[in-house]
Amino acid sequence: MQAARRAGRAIGLVPTMGALHAGHISLADAARRAGDYVVATIFVNPTQFGPNEDFQRYPRPLDADLAALRAAQVDLVFTPDTSEVYGPRHATFVEVGGVSGPLEGRCRPGHFRGVATIVLKLFNMSFPDRAYFGQKDYQQTLVVRRMVADLDLPIEICVCPTVREADGLAMSSRNVYLGADERRQATMLYRGLRRACELVAGGERDAAPLRAAMEACFREAAGMKLEYLEIVDPESLSPVAVVDRPALAVVAAHAGGTRLIDNEFLHPEPRI
Ligand code: PAJ
Repeated sequence: MQAARRAGRAIGLVPTMGALHAGHISLADAARRAGDYVVATIFVNPTQFGPNEDFQRYPRPLDADLAALRAAQVDLVFTPDTSEVYGPRHATFVEVGGVSGPLEGRCRPGHFRGVATIVLKLFNMSFPDRAYFGQKDYQQTLVVRRMVADLDLPIEICVCPTVREADGLAMSSRNVYLGADERRQATMLYRGLRRACELVAGGERDAAPLRAAMEACFREAAGMKLEYLEIVDPESLSPVAVVDRPALAVVAAHAGGTRLIDNEFLHPEPRI
């Protein structure tokens, strides 16, 4: 990495927790296309999991992940042990206010504190010029951007589109937990979001009927438990009543024991 830096290459960081799928690989591809020396990290970060979450059972298929990153022509993979990242006396955490609060922040207390802490540590371990994140975890991109701005980090944050399965389900390392029936029902997340996009394209601007239409979609998936469903301002994440400029439809739901999230932009003007 030092040689690449000396040679004037930009360093592009792709932080992941492994169990890689095409969504992760799309981030590495974007970094490679930008001409970066691509550094991927695989680290299942304990501080971003709640006490009743899936840290222990989170999938860790390291050999397959390394093969996938090699195939994606990633230049360097960093897979630290937990003890290398968090020493026994570790006591410093990064708390990003504002955008960490609603939605995921409300449902997963402490989650973004863990995310911001590990992302800053990974930044400080690799000093990237750019770092790549997925729109799938939209709120996470806002938290990281806020941290980068507030702490004056000279790092460009690049956000890449959500990569989906053929039926629209957003790719996620957690999809492997889904049973066949849950997997079928999980497509309702995307169908609800698409429904909202269609209604906005057809002229609907009021958030209430848009939310009602999404909820109606989710009700068809009897086995899924909706956690939140909102139409929010893409910067503040505050709910909006009228979609008179781009807004974000966001959803979180449980399919059995598996928690899934997704989001889509709603564009009130036709996109050119
Ligand atoms: P993880 O869930 O492994 O995701 C790593 C990166 O891949 C994130 O930026 C995430 O948004 C992106 N990603 C996941 N699914 C995607 C999809 N279907 N399409 C496009 N991008 C996708 O997010 C984390 O890990 C962690 O919080 C991390 C940032 C690594 C800090 O621990």
